[in-house]
Amino acid sequence: VIDIRSLYAKTGAFTYDPGFTSTASCESKLTYIDGDQGVLLHRGYPIDQLAEQSSFMEVAYLLLNKELPDSATLDKFTHTITRHTMLHEQLLQFYRGFRRDAHPMAIMCGVVGALSAFYHDSTDIADPHQRMVASHRLIAKMPTIAANAYKYSVGQPFVYPDNSLSYAGNFLKMTFGVPAEDYEVDPVVESAMDKIFILHADHEQNASTSTVRLAGSSGANPFACIAAGIACLWGPAHGGANEAALNMLREIGTPDRIPEYIARAKDKNDPFRLMGFGHRVYKNFDPRAKVLSKAATDVLDKLGISDPVLDTARELEQIALKDDYFVEKKLYPNVDFYSGVILSAIGFPTSMFTALFALARTVGWVAQWNEMITDPDQKIGRPRQLYTGPTQRDYIPLDRR
Ligand code: ACO
Repeated sequence: VIDIRSLYAKTGAFTYDPGFTSTASCESKLTYIDGDQGVLLHRGYPIDQLAEQSSFMEVAYLLLNKELPDSATLDKFTHTITRHTMLHEQLLQFYRGFRRDAHPMAIMCGVVGALSAFYHDSTDIADPHQRMVASHRLIAKMPTIAANAYKYSVGQPFVYPDNSLSYAGNFLKMTFGVPAEDYEVDPVVESAMDKIFILHADHEQNASTSTVRLAGSSGANPFACIAAGIACLWGPAHGGANEAALNMLREIGTPDRIPEYIARAKDKNDPFRLMGFGHRVYKNFDPRAKVLSKAATDVLDKLGISDPVLDTARELEQIALKDDYFVEKKLYPNVDFYSGVILSAIGFPTSMFTALFALARTVGWVAQWNEMITDPDQKIGRPRQLYTGPTQRDYIPLDRR
């Protein structure tokens, strides 16, 4: 391992690494990925064990506080989160400023960024207590903010949080419930939702997390930093891929059309890519995709839904895994490949998929942000560049150009 800092101090050299494919920007104790082996650990715990055996609240506590909670600590943490699920009433006015067809991620960028104007008592980043309150507020309010974005888009009244329910159950009720009517949370759906949240909770220095860290490195308040993370996550090469993957599967329609799309993905003159395939770090398989592949069958079976999209997805996976192009380039289904099938079966419109991703990833973002603030080596993030523009030249007055 080259110590870049001492190399730079001695030689003034720096690395040119577009996309940061081989540059570590920080030290972290949160999440470990071995892309060649398909391993993902949160504070040492394998993701498949967490997804099968723990809850999202446990994982949130683990990422924020280093260890798994005991039962009393988990109760206290869950209570703390539920105390913060309400949104300031005035914040609800924000939604009315958006067009009804606004993308939920556009609304979330705005509303989350605006939280800093409402919660002044948790924006002093030097105070560990305020940092934790801000983190709890963000984790607690994201389901309310996302559910309200959905309600606004369909023209229904907002449903206030029900703190007697689980984190996932409350989110489902705020999204699909109607005020003054009973809403029964389906335990199968609740458990699938919780699993999806766990699988998206953190993924070390991905683009949106790096964005949160970079924004936070300037001392910006946590709400603004998370809004920056949401903006980055929105892109189709990152969080937007689950929406794009389901749209692609629907466009393919039936398994007999798969070869046509495989051919397009391989054609260098066609910008088309198989959405939900490939990953910057996983060059074997994405362990989250494995959990979700099974969960997709479970949820659809239990809900009694027969969706041809799932058949198309399974067939596409099988064909791609045997195709030389995908094998050579080590392109496997990623977390986004099956999550859309499940979310669609639950009843979410595709435009909400990335919003759900943002909701879950908020846990990772705030945990990473806290880790960065307390890192004694932390400096403002300031990448270098290789300048390739014109050399120095004299200004030409307007009338002589
Ligand atoms: N379909 C077809 N070809 C692909 C795909 C794909 N999905 N992904 C990568 N390739 C090809 C590229 O064309 C490139 O080929 P080349 O070497 O002949 O030029 C090669 O594989 C390497 O691709 P890069 O884009 O250089 O790999 P990178 O690590 O930068 O990109 C990424 C990873 C962005 C995820 C890419 O695989 C992709 O665009 N996938 C589709 C979008 C997607 O599913 N994103 C979700 C990622 S997971 C997440 O964010 C939660």
